[in-house]
Amino acid sequence: MVVAYFDKDYPELSSNLTRVQRMMKKAIAIKNEAIQSAIFEILDGGGKMLRPAYLLLFAELVGLDEELKLKLAAAVEMLHTATLIHDDVIDKADVRRGVATVSSRYGVDSAVYAGDYLFIVAVKLLSEHAESLSNLTEQLGSMERLLNGEIGQLNKRFDLTQTIDDYLENIKGKTAELFAVSCSVAPLVAGEKRLAQIAASVGRNVGVAFQIMDDYLDYAASAETLGKPVLEDIKQGVYSAPVIYALRAEPMVAEAIRRGDVAAVYGLVRSTGALQETKQLAASYTAQALKQIGKLPETPVQKALADITEKLLERVL
Ligand code: IPE
Ligand code: IPE
Ligand code: MG
Ligand code: MG
Repeated sequence: MVVAYFDKDYPELSSNLTRVQRMMKKAIAIKNEAIQSAIFEILDGGGKMLRPAYLLLFAELVGLDEELKLKLAAAVEMLHTATLIHDDVIDKADVRRGVATVSSRYGVDSAVYAGDYLFIVAVKLLSEHAESLSNLTEQLGSMERLLNGEIGQLNKRFDLTQTIDDYLENIKGKTAELFAVSCSVAPLVAGEKRLAQIAASVGRNVGVAFQIMDDYLDYAASAETLGKPVLEDIKQGVYSAPVIYALRAEPMVAEAIRRGDVAAVYGLVRSTGALQETKQLAASYTAQALKQIGKLPETPVQKALADITEKLLERVL
């Protein structure tokens, strides 16, 4: 099992994340060995486990029961993994976390079932421990907004007139909602409504900054480092922040896209200052997240949240 992202600075968090990973595996029992091992491989593939990390930190802030917080953390990481397995089908991606994707190794059928299965087990874990039905309704609402963000992105494929606001609206759904759930579910279960609101806002801002940096790394990093393909979005007609900024700055970008010349788009994104603008956009959301974190009680947890949130802006993986 590899949970290395927090090893050095946060050994306790890291060991709790290893327990979360174990719990996820325990909750999975599929009557098909290929699908079961495909899921186990992706779980062992060394994901950063950021969403459960935020969840565990907020759970500590409200003093949530150990077993309960691990289960909730397992649920959000399962939801995340489900969306990744399906995302790789849609994006036709071959590699994830440095290993073959479920769809490329076992086929699209297995990948669809694997994602569906994880989704339903995650909801089951969440529902077992929801204090009230209204808590769950909130999380399911987030799932709906997540899906609508993905569909919004689909609707905008190959649209050269897409604006940064269109882009932001979609990533607020597809990525930020799950971060909002991860941050707010423990305070909600603990009945701390005001804290839950701050937590959700932290999550939304962290999530937007995180997705912007993911899209930045698509142009700034290598597939080897990321363990997943780069420049995939542009091939699928998904124009993220770096491309939108480059389109604004230079008419040749639209021509390169129309020709399907990915290398030229890449060169122009790098030479127009689009990457710097993208990073600034991410930084503005990180700043908002830090402002919200500043409203939390002054504890070591608050410090850890601020530290991790800041570091995500400089991440290379
Ligand atoms: C990838 O998320 C999908 C996005 C929302 C950008 P992560 O970068 O958190 O993926 P893993 O879990 O570490 O592999
Ligand atoms: C993230 O989008 C997908 C979800 C939030 C479900 P990406 O397509 O950018 O994620 P990666 O880059 O494949 O990890
Ligand atoms: Mg993808
Ligand atoms: Mg991406």
